[in-house]
Amino acid sequence: MTIDEKVRKTLAELGPTDAKKLFGEVRAAMQQEREALISRGAASESERYKLCKDLRDRWLARKNGLLSFVDENWLKASPKELKPIVGWQFNELRQDCSVVEVPVLLKDVPIKAQIPGGGEISVNDATRAAVSQATREVPGDLTLPGNRRPLGSLHPVTQVQREIEEIFLNLGFRIESGPEIESVYYNFDALNIPESHPSRDDWDTLYIDAKTVLRTHTSPVQIRAMEKYGAPLYIIIPGKCYRHDNPDASHSPMFHQIEGLAIDKDITFADLKGTLDFFAKKLFGEKIRTRFQPSFFPFTEPSGEVAISCIFCGGEGCRVCKESGWIEVMGCGMVHPLVLRYGGIDPEKYTGWAFGLGIDRYAMMKYDINDIQLFFQSDVRFLRQF
Ligand code: PHE
Repeated sequence: MTIDEKVRKTLAELGPTDAKKLFGEVRAAMQQEREALISRGAASESERYKLCKDLRDRWLARKNGLLSFVDENWLKASPKELKPIVGWQFNELRQDCSVVEVPVLLKDVPIKAQIPGGGEISVNDATRAAVSQATREVPGDLTLPGNRRPLGSLHPVTQVQREIEEIFLNLGFRIESGPEIESVYYNFDALNIPESHPSRDDWDTLYIDAKTVLRTHTSPVQIRAMEKYGAPLYIIIPGKCYRHDNPDASHSPMFHQIEGLAIDKDITFADLKGTLDFFAKKLFGEKIRTRFQPSFFPFTEPSGEVAISCIFCGGEGCRVCKESGWIEVMGCGMVHPLVLRYGGIDPEKYTGWAFGLGIDRYAMMKYDINDIQLFFQSDVRFLRQF
């Protein structure tokens, strides 16, 4: 059955078929016709226009264009359970078909001039422009459609960020932000990170000048928010962070964190555990368990490292959790009294907890992606999968 025949039948009439494959065939046919026209070329400007217009109409004409049949017979007439996949495939196809729009085709289809003695030469753009200028066979047609810009979607990291934000917004937290170019004071000093701490090193931190850095974490916004709002305070802080790391599968000099901060009267470590356990279950599912282990950060005391039971093996041990059954997902702890003081909050009256997590790693886990670089290469073939 030719493609022209296929698109005139409904999915039901075509019998049990794989929708993706079917759409693939349509796309392949369109590409083939397009390439055939490009390699054939046109003898003159006016013929080129006509050939491009014909191909465009064959596919995209509102009435009786091949795509209009796909719309009528496959999409509109598809059974309910197939609608989502067929709709998705149809949108993809429609986007791909933008290459048979006339202006796009005009750019790609060459005019092949006959040369004395037989044979053809392909005229380059400059010559073509000169020829069309000279002959003025086709005046610029202002009614031609413009170039189609396919619809985009949210970046996978943004999607996961929004999911996390949603959970904390529902708990009464607000979203706060701060500058990516940050002072050494907010990034280190006010967080009780001593002068001698290795993270201040040139090898870890990207310095703008002696007093200014690209923030290495979202924690400096803790201090900024304390200064701005005082206590009580319930905020999360999503944002970009930077470190002097060479890019590899698990490192990127730019990455994303979400910081959480809760300050109030009588906030205890139990609140921290309860909130983070609730968060993990909301994000990864009710079956997830959390584990808290002691750790160290200069700005929290006591400090902890949170792990969740492995989302891939349920805790039995697998490649992803390195057979341990656990995946470390964030650092946390009770806000150090000195840090509260730096923020202008009286540690005798208030206590608080904080956590920090890497969004990119969550997105990698969620979508089973093994190379962080993929997020930042702007490759549409990767991004359109989300
Ligand atoms: N800022 C820490 C980091 O980047 C994470 C953290 C935030 C730890 C808040 C404890 C409390 O590694």
